[in-house]
Amino acid sequence: RSTVSLSLLAELKTQGKPIVMVTAYDYATARVADRAGVDMVLVGDSAAQVVLGRRSTVDITVDEMLILAAAARRGVESAFLVGDLPFGSTEMSDGQAVATATRFVKEAGVDAVKLEGGWPERLSRIRAIVGAGIPVIGHVGLTPQTAVALGGMRAQGRSPEAAARLAREAIAVQAAGASALVIEAVPRAVVDVLLPAMCIPVIGIGAGAADGQVLVMHDLLGITEGVMPRFVKTYAEVGTAMVRGVEAYAADVRSGTFPQKENDYSASAGAVAAAHD
Ligand code: KIV
Ligand code: NA
Repeated sequence: RSTVSLSLLAELKTQGKPIVMVTAYDYATARVADRAGVDMVLVGDSAAQVVLGRRSTVDITVDEMLILAAAARRGVESAFLVGDLPFGSTEMSDGQAVATATRFVKEAGVDAVKLEGGWPERLSRIRAIVGAGIPVIGHVGLTPQTAVALGGMRAQGRSPEAAARLAREAIAVQAAGASALVIEAVPRAVVDVLLPAMCIPVIGIGAGAADGQVLVMHDLLGITEGVMPRFVKTYAEVGTAMVRGVEAYAADVRSGTFPQKENDYSASAGAVAAAHD
């Protein structure tokens, strides 16, 4: 269990203090997030691409997510830990959704689960999981698991009809019992209008100011290769630093510069003589 609680997150919203959330997928990245003092850590299904190198976020199983989430749990002491319910693990029934969310709590020790979507079937899943005593973080706007049905990975809520539908979904997710809501790739002006109707913390990604922000760690650290979505800001060039580090090691090995005396173990003269015999 983390020291950051749902009530602390609610307090941050009330005080107008922005909530900081970042993804992590294993012990090492979870330690980075926790040492940096973020409020929330998300083990996102973005792991499918970021960690496993697959093409789509839907291409990850519950068992795989649980290995990553359990590893992140071991690294997080302070931040509130959220596990992303992957595509296919909640769609069939409320019972399936509760069973999956329960595994995330029991096997990975997450503090809450995140569930995409705000249409009627999804609201039913949120009510069921919350009813089982597991906090739920909603996710509306661009929902990558169903992006094909949304017309691709593109911003949502840009037309008057779409903005109204998005606002209805956000409010319905809150009414269904969600403890917080992620809003992805939605115009800032639409979120500004929605915010006064939201009592729960709203965490934006490409959605303007909201009550907090979430980014993929590998994107903000400059580890992810290629063109970033416009909502990403890169704060470090860690990918380049890692390549330079491994290059320097390789060069040292190839030139005989590494290892040196300080990297060697000492032996008694007798050991050397015995090895010689
Ligand atoms: O999987 C993920 O990383 C996410 C965040 C970007 C919100 O869902
Ligand atoms: Na996700």
